[in-house]
Amino acid sequence: MEIAIIGSGYVGLVTGVCLAHIGHTVTCVDNNPEKVRKLKAGEVPIYEPGLEPLMHKYSKMKRLNFSSSIEAATKKATVIFIAVGTPSKKNGDADLTYIENVARAIARNMDSYKLLVEKSTVPVQTGNRIERTVALNLPAKFRRGNKCLVEFDVASNPEFLREGSAVEDFMNPDRIVIGVKSRRAEQLLREVYAPLKARLVVTNVATAEMIKHASNSFLATKISFINSVAQICDRVGADVLSVAEGMGYDRRIGRAFLNAGIGYGGSCFPKDVDAFVRLAEKSGYDFKLLKGVRDVNEQQKASFIHLIEDKLWIIKDKTIAIWGLAFKADTDDMRRAASIDIIQALQEEGARVQAFDPKAMDNARHELKGVKFCADAYAAAKGADCLLVLTEWEEFKRLDLKRVRGLLRQAVVFDGRNFFDDKLFVDLGFEYHGIGRGRGAHAS
Ligand code: NAD
Ligand code: UGA
Repeated sequence: MEIAIIGSGYVGLVTGVCLAHIGHTVTCVDNNPEKVRKLKAGEVPIYEPGLEPLMHKYSKMKRLNFSSSIEAATKKATVIFIAVGTPSKKNGDADLTYIENVARAIARNMDSYKLLVEKSTVPVQTGNRIERTVALNLPAKFRRGNKCLVEFDVASNPEFLREGSAVEDFMNPDRIVIGVKSRRAEQLLREVYAPLKARLVVTNVATAEMIKHASNSFLATKISFINSVAQICDRVGADVLSVAEGMGYDRRIGRAFLNAGIGYGGSCFPKDVDAFVRLAEKSGYDFKLLKGVRDVNEQQKASFIHLIEDKLWIIKDKTIAIWGLAFKADTDDMRRAASIDIIQALQEEGARVQAFDPKAMDNARHELKGVKFCADAYAAAKGADCLLVLTEWEEFKRLDLKRVRGLLRQAVVFDGRNFFDDKLFVDLGFEYHGIGRGRGAHAS
């Protein structure tokens, strides 16, 4: 099938590459000329495990093409996925400017039936908005009064992939949700995904949009729940890791997303929780539970900073080593990473920060000023008064901790991800602080 993807970022590019992998011919469009130039030259603009070899393979076979022209891509394809950004506005609403721009551009270039598919995460009812925008922007020859003389459909097909395992998630989804209004749209999307042999959930458009709101918000709720439990664990001498394990064996609960830490970050949970709270508000419902989820997430960072202040005493002029900046492991993405808030708070108190991240340092340079970016984890530790682990990069587990011990001025570790076995540090004479481990700052 001829498919176009508008927006070639973390989701659009992975979707395009994976759809080529399962046999379609795909054009990935982006309006950032530098991005398109890189993609055409075979450069992958993001770090995503497994993406590069597939991208090269299908580009060479011409099953995957890159373009900056929505016009050409619209004319060629029947199915057009919209995967542009939907960032937060100041008031928490999703900013749908890019979605509207794309809907207009597609409409102006439509000359035969098209299926527009929302891949971006959008508030419920956006499907109706896109439909109206397309109708209003069709070329004059295709409009008579309120009537459209060219057929089109708008469908919702929310994406559930995670950064860091995006290719794997796309190729092996737990489910594929398609929200459609017509048999034709359903049939086309069934054809697109047929090679994946995945479970399909077919609904109307609003329900599919709602599934995405609810899924991300539920996952964020699990994280804030376990973070709250961790707070109490620290106060009463219980260990949140064992609590999560003990809860997780219950199949109704599950162990996933019960990792306590410095709070969720990234380009999705913070923005999508905000958007769902706002949507609920506009529909006349006060979503108190989700507001609580958001508050707990903010508190979690504040409490981590408080723990550091408590143990380091004076922050001014102390040198703080950071391992990991990305919002999670296996990505270079710094969008709304918890590390940003934590580092900025410590800098405001006068700390000097020296950091290392295996993949996110280029992006981090845009977000963080006054940080010394180091060549490796050892260089970051050199002469520091404490070490913060802010991202759970597997390679940190292979470091020589004895050497790290010798490099630090004070052997104090704050493991914001409960990533390390605390014993490893303690046996080497470090003071180790995890999150909710019951032996931390507040335990007595
Ligand atoms: P992104 O910023 O990485 O990518 C968006 C791309 O769209 C950018 O490259 C931008 O240049 C391009 N773009 C903007 N306007 C355009 C236009 N008019 N024409 C062509 N291209 C245009 O964002 P992302 O992380 O890929 O997220 C995209 C959407 O997918 C968001 O709604 C997000 O919530 C959702 N989503 C993201 C993830 C994730 O893990 N990142 C997962 C599921 C869903
Ligand atoms: C998340 C969802 O998991 C995807 O299903 C969804 O498609 C995506 O958002 C989206 O809509 O964009 P992503 O943000 O890439 O994916 O990464 P996650 O693995 O979900 O992690 C999000 C944040 O939560 C990270 O900061 C991570 O460190 C944190 N987290 C995750 C925890 O603190 N504890 C956990 O147990 C799990």
